[in-house]
Amino acid sequence: MTTGTAEAFANRARGILSGLEARGELKHLQVIDGPMDATVRLRAEDGKFHEALCFCSNNYLGLANHPEVVEAGIAGLKKYGAGTASVRFICGTFTPHLELEERIARFLGVESAYTFVSCWNASEAVFPTLAEPGDAIVSDALNHACIIDSIRLAGVIKKGVQKFIYPNNDLGALEEKLGEARAKVDDEHVIWVVTDGVFSMEGSVADLPAMRRLCDAHGAILVVDDSHGTGVLGKTGRGTHEHHGMAGNAIDLFTGTLGKALGGGAGGYIAGPRHATELVVQRGRPTLFSNALPVTVACSASKAIEIIDREPERVARLRENVAYARKKIRAAGFEVLESPTAICPVIVGETAKAISMSKRLLELGVYVIGFGFPVVPEGEARLRCQISAAHTREHIDALADGLARL
Ligand SMILES: Cc1ncc(COP(=O)(O)O)c(C=O)c1O
Repeated sequence: MTTGTAEAFANRARGILSGLEARGELKHLQVIDGPMDATVRLRAEDGKFHEALCFCSNNYLGLANHPEVVEAGIAGLKKYGAGTASVRFICGTFTPHLELEERIARFLGVESAYTFVSCWNASEAVFPTLAEPGDAIVSDALNHACIIDSIRLAGVIKKGVQKFIYPNNDLGALEEKLGEARAKVDDEHVIWVVTDGVFSMEGSVADLPAMRRLCDAHGAILVVDDSHGTGVLGKTGRGTHEHHGMAGNAIDLFTGTLGKALGGGAGGYIAGPRHATELVVQRGRPTLFSNALPVTVACSASKAIEIIDREPERVARLRENVAYARKKIRAAGFEVLESPTAICPVIVGETAKAISMSKRLLELGVYVIGFGFPVVPEGEARLRCQISAAHTREHIDALADGLARL
């Protein structure tokens, strides 16, 4: 960059940042000094660390600081070292990757799974790799950003991939779009329907049985990102499909994260038939050109899934906490969508309002983040309260008290 160009960029960047600050929309990164749990040690404005109740993590089953999950990571670190120093296909595939992938596949009831450093990467490997020119992708308008970007990238890399968007959870509109797609896609090509299992900003659930029927009627493949459903929904925490009484193999392809209920470390996966995972291994740019999941994280995630299978009561406790929290949030005077998911958004409108309410809650010792544009649409800013099996009734009561005082 010449000096002039560097200056132009610096001016532009500072202008954007000061605009955000002036509108009260600037995000301030909160700093935690200690493990993620029902309570966290959070740095306050005075620079000192204070204990706060955490209602904004994805630690749905309270496994992020589970002693066995931590120990499994330490054992992995000692045996395998800090990382793979390689992508998977060169020299980055270690036995814990295979163990974890077998465990994920068994947990979901599908043929195979393959891991990535994040679900973002897993998603980004799906459409740009598996879709081809002449295919169509039909996507829910509220799908997670990683799905949206995966579709956009597929459109760039594989010119001729068509895109259809339907309004959130609107099955009539989905049927219409499937009809439009079918008219344009011949039998040699594929129609993909993709949805979040649980919508991350709404806490609502996709109607997978109806989507399955529509996909079958139109010859389409159903892809589900169940990042917020896995470990949370269904009697044994298998996810949104189990919540609906469906077997794992009723979903054609899953994507999911290891960074939420499944230990909370990091990492993501695709799971489904072997021809799909194998094609991603061969051709997926996020795995061909980016390092493998750190082995320590794979060891922790494997242990987390083992614990979920061994202790289904964790999932039951989360379910009870979720029902209790919704009841208490309503009693505190706020609207919250009725849903079995652990995401309870309280819509407040403007981004600045959500940020200032979240700040006030923190002063009361309750840590809930305010989400605004561009994470959610303008005017729909919200406090997203997330419930965990690690929370006690007293913790949830304190959340409701804090909200009531707002
Ligand atoms: C639905 C959904 N998919 C994917 C992701 C990304 O997961 P990861 O953090 O593993 O990249 C998230 C995380 O916020 C999510 O909510």
